[in-house]
Amino acid sequence: MTDTQQAPELAQVGVVGMAVMGSNLARNFARHGYRVAIFNRTPARTDAVIAAHGDEGTFLPAHSIEEFVASIAEPRRIILMVQAGDPTDATIAQLLPLLSPGDVIMDGGNAHFRDTIRRESEIASSGIHFVGCGISGGEYGALTGPSIMPGGTPESYQLLGPMLEDIAAQVDGTEPCCAWMGPNGAGHFVKMIHNGIEYSDMQVIGEAWMLLRAAGLSNAECADVFARWNTGDLDSYLIEITSEVLRQKDPRTGADLVDVIKDRAGMKGTGTWTVTTALELGAPVNGIAEAVFARATSSHDDLRAVAQQTLAGPVAELPLGDREEFVEDVRQALWCSKVIAYSQGFDEIRSGGKAFGWNIRIADAASIWRDGCIIRAKLLERIRAEYDADPGLVSFMCAPSVAPELAEYQGAWRRVVAAAVTAGIGAPAFSATLAYYDLARAPRVNAALTQAQRDFFGSHTYERIDIDGHWHLDWSGDRSESPA
Ligand code: 6PG
Repeated sequence: MTDTQQAPELAQVGVVGMAVMGSNLARNFARHGYRVAIFNRTPARTDAVIAAHGDEGTFLPAHSIEEFVASIAEPRRIILMVQAGDPTDATIAQLLPLLSPGDVIMDGGNAHFRDTIRRESEIASSGIHFVGCGISGGEYGALTGPSIMPGGTPESYQLLGPMLEDIAAQVDGTEPCCAWMGPNGAGHFVKMIHNGIEYSDMQVIGEAWMLLRAAGLSNAECADVFARWNTGDLDSYLIEITSEVLRQKDPRTGADLVDVIKDRAGMKGTGTWTVTTALELGAPVNGIAEAVFARATSSHDDLRAVAQQTLAGPVAELPLGDREEFVEDVRQALWCSKVIAYSQGFDEIRSGGKAFGWNIRIADAASIWRDGCIIRAKLLERIRAEYDADPGLVSFMCAPSVAPELAEYQGAWRRVVAAAVTAGIGAPAFSATLAYYDLARAPRVNAALTQAQRDFFGSHTYERIDIDGHWHLDWSGDRSESPA
């Protein structure tokens, strides 16, 4: 019998982990007409989902993992929405003895892609499919339509893909924000890059806000500026919520909420993984790295306490010419920095795809990020189109429709970075992405001197611009050059 002809009362999909993300994902499946088995290590959690949302569709609540597995039609499709790390491994270990070849376990948490590669190889011999899947969009997205980035085998995508595409966000109501990213860890790798870009996007928005504030705009005026920007090229979820946040008053004191929040950023680590992986891959993602380090600096309490007392610098006020001109300069600088940060993120996807043999189709990643996820933005449609037109595009910032815009805006970008430096406002992502832009386009950079220095102290050799081969100069002897 096919899986749909088996006893009709069996579930078509099962979700383990009834915290908000897991329960919302289960509700999303149920709202789309699927029979959904649900299980949580704490049965009361499962009961609470049924009590609050049982009328939204067909749920099969289970109070034991055995009951849960038995309630799912084969080949079983089981989605783990539990904490990354040991809890995921523990849940897999509980499930495996109860499953049959051909069943699928999908990990929908924020797992590290190397853990996913390990997990898939560990259970491959059992004939059970393991899929690492990035899911972006937060709690609301899980319920109403996230962006879904599954890895795993093509066969597992045949089993899971159709239902994931059903519940994903739909661009223009027709294009699901879900596509197979590639084998084993590719899905979680792409989600990791998503989060790295998310960090950099949030950082450049934060730097723009600090600059506008230093220019004398109130939070309410900044909210108006971001709302206006959100109607143009910067149209994105993060710009939209930034305007909302900056307008929000503190319900306790009536002050601007953002001004009563401690300026110490947290991070669960996915952005950090993007940077450490980039270092391993040799993929320059300095815009993303500066965002991670800016969060770390913000929460480095000891350093900031001492530095505020001991380090001199200008008071962060911007001597302004025309305010509207400055605001427009900041918009152009924000767009440029955002383009560079996204370009770097997609460059890392390209590097990772090559290094791990995934050959991820970058246009697909851009396409499924157009809606549902945290970095959803108008810019992603342009990125998709450029990589669709030229899958071998070396970098989005060099794309035919983008480079001219960067050329037009880079003057403002430089003025804004210079203003930030002069006013003593730390804008690491604005300045690092500009430095990357200039290093990338420079005909000659300092690396020639680096090579000579390395050959001087370590005989690491260098290449020449006029003849092939690797060469070493006898720095401590007669300074003659010889082939390495
Ligand atoms: C998403 C989010 C989600 C999580 C972030 C925030 O795509 O839905 O990125 O994964 O909320 O990772 O976590 P940190 O900022 O603490 O890393």
